[in-house]
Amino acid sequence: MLNHKEIKDLRTKHLGPSLSLSYDEPLQIVRGKGQYLYDADGNQYLDCINNIQHVGHCHPKVVAAAQKQYTQLNTNTRYLGETIVKYAKNLTDTLPTGLEVCFFTNSGSEANDLALRMARQYTESKETIVLDGAYHGNLLSLIEISPYKHDAPGGSGAPDFVYTLPMPDPFRGKYRGEDCGEQYAQEVQTVISEIQKKGNKVSTFIVEALMGCGGQLILPKGFLNKAFDLVSAAGGVCIVDEIQTGFGRVGSHFWGFETHGVAPDIVTMGKSMGNGHPLSAVVTTQKIADAFNNGMEYFNSFGGNPVSCAVGRAVLNVIKEEKLQENARVIGAYLLEQLNTLKSKNDLIGDVRGKGLFIGIELVKDRDTLKPAAVEANQIINRMKEKGILLSTDGPDHNVIKIKPPMVFKKQNVEKLTSVLDETLEEIKKGNIQKLL
Ligand SMILES: Cc1ncc(COP(=O)(O)O)c(C=O)c1O
Repeated sequence: MLNHKEIKDLRTKHLGPSLSLSYDEPLQIVRGKGQYLYDADGNQYLDCINNIQHVGHCHPKVVAAAQKQYTQLNTNTRYLGETIVKYAKNLTDTLPTGLEVCFFTNSGSEANDLALRMARQYTESKETIVLDGAYHGNLLSLIEISPYKHDAPGGSGAPDFVYTLPMPDPFRGKYRGEDCGEQYAQEVQTVISEIQKKGNKVSTFIVEALMGCGGQLILPKGFLNKAFDLVSAAGGVCIVDEIQTGFGRVGSHFWGFETHGVAPDIVTMGKSMGNGHPLSAVVTTQKIADAFNNGMEYFNSFGGNPVSCAVGRAVLNVIKEEKLQENARVIGAYLLEQLNTLKSKNDLIGDVRGKGLFIGIELVKDRDTLKPAAVEANQIINRMKEKGILLSTDGPDHNVIKIKPPMVFKKQNVEKLTSVLDETLEEIKKGNIQKLL
């Protein structure tokens, strides 16, 4: 067995330097179970961040489904297969009528790239509207539409067919407060007019139902409905990226977009879909799928293979059997309540927001100026890691602590997380956290 240092050295030598590691002192995680991870020394960590292992790390039923299918067959979509069609049926049953055609892929990026291709084919246009701060994937086509990447270090800005809307952030955005949805929607109309003035057509508006990398942002009420109406009226296609937010995570609904009462033309999903197995999909209407069928075959070596589909079906079954959507609703509400209590006694917490088990804590140095407390956010996650709690930070100012644990998170996990956070916030207040890290 390699020790910590040997792994680090080999990683430095043989893995790309643009890959990052979490925490100042990285962890060597060797095992996972449910909402817990274990390091090489046997220490247990409460995983509050891994939304990919949706039904829990190494869930026995998901592992068994993969093992069983692996021993029978693993091929591609060019043979008639029962597993894929049953899975497509199970999946579309969770979506509104009309979203009934599935294309299976292997990563969120691949799904979003395919969704863009479909939208461009269907509208015969490329003009794309995105939200500032959004991340939609690591492919060239997605860096182009992800301000989170192309406007950050190493990026070269948006190409001329990408139109960026201000991030609809009710806390620190261009417009603020509960009723700012309409004002942000007006920005959509401005962009549509700009596209049309150039003599172009709108192709697509791609949006996350709740923004993840943007800082666990809940879109203001009314924004998405209005934005979708405007884009649809202009002949554009509305894509909802549910890669972070789908499969019951928001608690009240199975899909994040349902919390806004909108009807997307295309939905993309991934991450939690395979509980860690590479599995993603694009689901759309028959009309868009038919337009995409322009004579060019769509083939994907791995997308929709029987093992992936067996895993996907097992994940859906576990969500249902273990009532994980309901768990996200109840436990998420309890967590929000506890975090708001911490906010009431701690000025560093500027905002607590979320839905179900998709929650953000935005830290500020001052509640009036909203100056971001990014250094403190980083200190907190590093200190909490030492105390057995795994969290991460994100958002344009790197000052939002993200919470999106496996959906099996329990009441006692909430209590542990909030008591350790309380303790750590006290350490920050006393100014001695630097010495402790
Ligand atoms: C909203 C969103 N879309 C797309 C992606 C890309 O998914 P993947 O990393 O599976 O390619 C991510 C990944 O973090 C994401 O958060």
